[in-house]
Amino acid sequence: MYNLIMKSLILVLSISIICLNLLGFYVLASEQVNDEDGFEVSDEILAIVGDIDYGEYLSSECTTCHHAQGLDEGIPSITGWPIESFVWSLHSYKSGARKHPIMEMITQRLSNEEIASLAIFFESINN
Ligand code: HEC
Repeated sequence: MYNLIMKSLILVLSISIICLNLLGFYVLASEQVNDEDGFEVSDEILAIVGDIDYGEYLSSECTTCHHAQGLDEGIPSITGWPIESFVWSLHSYKSGARKHPIMEMITQRLSNEEIASLAIFFESINN
């Protein structure tokens, strides 16, 4: 009887370990996939009209890295972009579809309204 209980316990434990391993692999694999190509932003989010002054206020955090004059040490220029591309780009980081530790962290703190405001402000800048 005791033997049977031990055997069942070991069987249950082995199955749990296999399941956890599979789950771990799944999580690791999904983290490495960049999926921004199929990424879509909803019409409601695209319809939000930002506030350009608020965008200017929020932009000081961005311009410490993104300088107005194009590429700087691998950091892309973000001025003069069409609003829709800009919004899409920030949401692809926010959702994790596009991977980049810094941009994911920054966009996760931004609301949909703040992203719209940044988009309208940066679009208005012409180098
Ligand atoms: C600490 C530096 C840093 C800060 C601060 C920062 N970014 Fe970025 N940003 C980067 C880097 C590096 C990349 C390129 C990431 C990549 O390769 O995906 C990037 C990419 C982007 C892109 C995509 C550019 C492209 O060509 O696809 C956009 C849009 C963007 N950032 C907007 C912003 C906005 C808006 C803010 C402020 C809210 C901001 N960033 C703050 C470093 C920064």
